[in-house]
Amino acid sequence: MKITKICCIGAGYVGGPTMAVIAQKCPHIQVTVVDLNEQRIADWNDPNPENIPIYEPGLSEIVSEARGRNLFFSTDVDKAIDEAQMIFISVNTPTKTYGKGKGMAADLKYIELCARQIAKVAKQNKIVVEKSTLPVRTAEAIKSILDNTGNGVQFQILSNPEFLAEGTAVTDLLNPDRILIGGDTTPEGEEAINALIEVYSNWVSKDRILTTNVWSSELSKLTANAFLAQRISSINAMSELCEKTGANVSEVAKAIGMDSRIGSKFLKASVGFGGSCFQKDILNLVYIAKSYGLSEVADYWEQVIIMNDHQKRRFSNKIVQTLYNTVADKKIAFLGWAFKKDTNDTRESAAIYVADDLINEQARISVYDPKVSQNKMLNDLDYLETRSKQDNANYLNVFDNAYEACKDAHAVAILTEWDEFATYDWKRIYDAMHKPAFIFDGRNILDAKQLEEIGFVYNGIGS
Ligand code: UDX
Ligand code: UDX
Repeated sequence: MKITKICCIGAGYVGGPTMAVIAQKCPHIQVTVVDLNEQRIADWNDPNPENIPIYEPGLSEIVSEARGRNLFFSTDVDKAIDEAQMIFISVNTPTKTYGKGKGMAADLKYIELCARQIAKVAKQNKIVVEKSTLPVRTAEAIKSILDNTGNGVQFQILSNPEFLAEGTAVTDLLNPDRILIGGDTTPEGEEAINALIEVYSNWVSKDRILTTNVWSSELSKLTANAFLAQRISSINAMSELCEKTGANVSEVAKAIGMDSRIGSKFLKASVGFGGSCFQKDILNLVYIAKSYGLSEVADYWEQVIIMNDHQKRRFSNKIVQTLYNTVADKKIAFLGWAFKKDTNDTRESAAIYVADDLINEQARISVYDPKVSQNKMLNDLDYLETRSKQDNANYLNVFDNAYEACKDAHAVAILTEWDEFATYDWKRIYDAMHKPAFIFDGRNILDAKQLEEIGFVYNGIGS
């Protein structure tokens, strides 16, 4: 089957950039991205490409090239499903907040809604591609809904998990390490797999396109994220030991990273990992292992999350202890709120939890982040439901530049590794702060020696 029309349900951090790149690289394919959220679609259609709802380096350029040519954003879900031969499902699959599996299992209600809508609308055979990260064997549920509620047309389900990291989405999409496609081994399944290979081969060489059965593909995404997160928790566990022993975690990471069996990536000690995927996917893996009665497997992976929670708590505790065991009424400046640099995404960001701990100690938090709005920060705190919205708004103040945020502060905490932080005039910041002026570098991006020479009391992670 030659694909000429693609539809993607979900215009989020994954669906938006992925479809923009497919549209740019395949001008002969019409790509329509739909979303239930009308505001989000309106933002994607904003005449000024700088105002699209997701910040990713290089994305607005691609959108402005392809939008209106063969890339469309719409709220007319039924029409887009009806016209497309291939439908990507890229809606969110958050951790369940209710019922069985609460706090662990993936909430598949949006996936099921998509499947029911596709079944209702489709009048011709369709290929349905799972893009969202899903628990292994979800395709079975989707297939059953499609086959039992559809209009008698044929559906092929493929799993094509996304491995892009936020902040580098465009380069990851343009130059992926690999594309993974899982599908049935029947002739119809193979035909569907080939149709998707054809789409990607417009810019990805065939030796980077890997095909597997559906279950291997679904499980590979969870496994990749679990392994990546495990490396961070492992190095973070060592960071605490370094602080006790006089070792320096950056030196340790460098020394072990040069072992080609270990490799150098993903060994940066930090205040803890965040983002929409790691915690959700590992909890999901733990839940699946438990549901098969594999308690040792479940405990093994759960420890990655326990370590990460510990690291965030350890960071806020250290601030309190260092500031003479009281931060009540002290101003603490946060540089960064996003879960990592080059994104405006704050889901599961360590900053949220560290702020929450410090506000419990009645500290006043002043934040500067180059891309995150005040509204988003307050929503993140409100979501924890630790205190009233009014209290959160009283304790958290947002500034549009770092110098203002740090003025009169007792301490500065670096929560996100934005490049611009390393370029600041730290002497100027120091001069405007309370003395002694403390700095807690949760990302190890600043030069400790230089800061100490200025007069700062410096605390990094793992040194
Ligand atoms: C999502 C999943 O969370 C993740 O598991 C997967 O790997 C990739 O897709 P992301 O794109 O970052 O990640 O989520 P989000 O930015 O929340 O976007 C999802 C979009 O789907 C939202 O805009 C939401 O409005 C939309 N949506 C959700 C629908 O259009 N229909 C629905 O039924 C549910
Ligand atoms: C991750 C995976 O990398 C990606 O392949 C998958 O598709 C989605 O989940 P993402 O969450 O966007 O991507 O960001 P990532 O770069 O993996 O960072 C996750 C978190 O780990 C961030 O908070 C980051 O700051 C932290 N991190 C990363 C560290 O603390 N140390 C490191 O060495 C690397």
